[in-house]
Amino acid sequence: MMDIYLIGYMGSGKSTIGRLLADKMDRSFVDFDDFIEENEGMSIPKLFKTKGEIYFRKIEMKYLEELLLEKEGGRVIALGGGTPCYGNNMDRLQRAKVKTIYLNVSYKALARRLWDNNNNRPLVATIDTYEALEDYVRKHLFERSYFYNQAEIILKIGSESEEETINKIISILF
Ligand code: S3P
Repeated sequence: MMDIYLIGYMGSGKSTIGRLLADKMDRSFVDFDDFIEENEGMSIPKLFKTKGEIYFRKIEMKYLEELLLEKEGGRVIALGGGTPCYGNNMDRLQRAKVKTIYLNVSYKALARRLWDNNNNRPLVATIDTYEALEDYVRKHLFERSYFYNQAEIILKIGSESEEETINKIISILF
């Protein structure tokens, strides 16, 4: 059984959808940010603060390599928002025998979600007006879309419920 990797911008629902999808399909779930935090013994905001983003990107690449080499299979894995966009991570994902799914949410919806919950996200935590956040997300998502759009499955997510999204993923997969 292939592992399923969920990719997409911060706030696109990778962890929430991933956990529910894994439950429904009776598979195990890995939240990549949690995996990094456990292995490094430090939270992501603290890693960014004390060791810097470049260090974070290096270890992110190393841990992705580890996951891709594991032969477990059948897991649902929610990556970090930046994971496919650094080093040759997206190439590696494409070359590995895994399914990649991009949760494609509009920048406006992402900005709304991130405005309500940005505490654990060092890249946006210090943006202090809604307009600035929306502007940042619009530009950043545009840059990152080049990588996200290389996913095998691209799922446009609008106002549907999580349940509907999960059912849609399952119907595409099988
Ligand atoms: C990041 C997204 C975060 C986390 C880190 C960097 C990014 O993950 O990996 O803060 O560069 O977009 P989520 O997408 O799970 O918030």
